[in-house]
Amino acid sequence: MIAGAISVEDALRQASSLLAEGGIEKPRHEARILLAHIAGMTREGLLVQHAQTLDRPLVDALTALARRRAAHEPMAYLTGEREFWGLSFEVTRATLIPRPDSETLVEAALEFARSRLEANIRILDLGVGSGCLLVSLLRELPSAEGYGVDRSVAALNVAQCNAERHNVISRAHFFAGSWGQALSPAFDIIVANPPYVADGERAELMPEVANYEPAEALFAGARGDDAYRALAPDLSRLLSPVGRVFLELGAGLGAQAANLLSGAGLVECERRRDLAGIERCGIFELATD
Ligand SMILES: C[S@@+](CC[C@H](N)C(=O)[O-])C[C@H]1O[C@@H](n2cnc3c(N)ncnc32)[C@H](O)[C@@H]1O
Repeated sequence: MIAGAISVEDALRQASSLLAEGGIEKPRHEARILLAHIAGMTREGLLVQHAQTLDRPLVDALTALARRRAAHEPMAYLTGEREFWGLSFEVTRATLIPRPDSETLVEAALEFARSRLEANIRILDLGVGSGCLLVSLLRELPSAEGYGVDRSVAALNVAQCNAERHNVISRAHFFAGSWGQALSPAFDIIVANPPYVADGERAELMPEVANYEPAEALFAGARGDDAYRALAPDLSRLLSPVGRVFLELGAGLGAQAANLLSGAGLVECERRRDLAGIERCGIFELATD
């Protein structure tokens, strides 16, 4: 064996024990994910290579990542990716990690597009982050054009990479700015997953979220509704007369969001629940009178 090299099994054991000390729930499983990531192998590949040896640089890299994970840095930031809508998205510390709950918005927007819209669909994503919503929609709607806005230039760079990764870059346009202020009408589909955690709820968040995900993607004032309030006028100004808004809702914030948007000339058509049964997506159109 080369000096400093150890077997895959021993490397996994060492990493698992660091993770267990940090209180990570499934240390062996997560150690495997980290090692597969570093070694550029699948987890299945690792299973058949247990007796193989790992040289020192790989062992050191695994130990460094296991230490970061033991301090509760999210796995997605360590591997640099997260799956959403069946696609692998690049993520960095500048972006929120895509959540399965947000697939409720994609599902609802696609249903609307396929049943009510025809060609030349224009999609706007306000607070585009990693681009997971916009890129997923563009993949599913091959003739649509997409526009993504974010205040964070670093997040927009990641969204651009994801649009390239999934071959929709020629139909994706990104803008830095605050919500829809710099844009002109009209969009047929507007999706938005704005921040909606109340400032006072920070202590209740998991350390993975509170200590690592970008604060500007999470927090929205004393009641969690500041972003809904700020977005409402842009949503009604930018929505086409035949279009719909698909707004992500924080748990228990549906009525307040509907109230704020109705003050700006929008009417709620439906509220959709996510797989956990929580009201997650408010669907709005322009009021007619
Ligand atoms: C909850 S994250 C959603 C990211 C992505 N759409 C998703 O669903 O994973 C909210 C995003 O809104 C952006 N944001 C916050 N305030 C903003 C503002 N005033 N104007 C534009 N974007 C804003 C944040 O930078 C962040 O990327």
